[in-house]
Amino acid sequence: MKRVITFGTFDVLHVGHIRILERAKQLGHHLTVGISSDALNFSKKQRNPVYPEKDRSELIASLKFVDAVFIEESLELKAEYIKEHAADILVMGDDWEGKFDFLSPLCEVTYLKRTEGISTTQLIAEIRKYE
Ligand code: CTP
Repeated sequence: MKRVITFGTFDVLHVGHIRILERAKQLGHHLTVGISSDALNFSKKQRNPVYPEKDRSELIASLKFVDAVFIEESLELKAEYIKEHAADILVMGDDWEGKFDFLSPLCEVTYLKRTEGISTTQLIAEIRKYE
């Protein structure tokens, strides 16, 4: 059984999120998703997520192609998470192309193309226009 792992914030769930998770699952049999903690998201993006980590986890866990979720507390712990979840394949969006190749001694590292024309940042900006 091939186990796949991927990571992200997945705030304000959108079709780009759904598509990458569905394609990640197709690479194996079991998909684990590491959801960035609220604190990690703040350190990465200098803003609090719209949905807190508990709600983001609940949304992602409810998707039919997701088998397990956990909270990712630090970007520096990818190797530990891969080992802990016995992952055979790490999937990242191609905005990270090449950045995680150093983990290839531990597992296969694959970058999937992002869906064009949508992102959480863009959605938040769109919604703000209605304020
Ligand atoms: N993703 C994707 N296509 C998009 C947006 C995101 O495939 N249009 C993927 C990312 O590559 C990542 C996962 O979804 O693997 C979670 O990304 P995240 O950063 O949470 O979503 P974004 O919409 O990119 O958020 P932001 O605008 O805040 O950076």
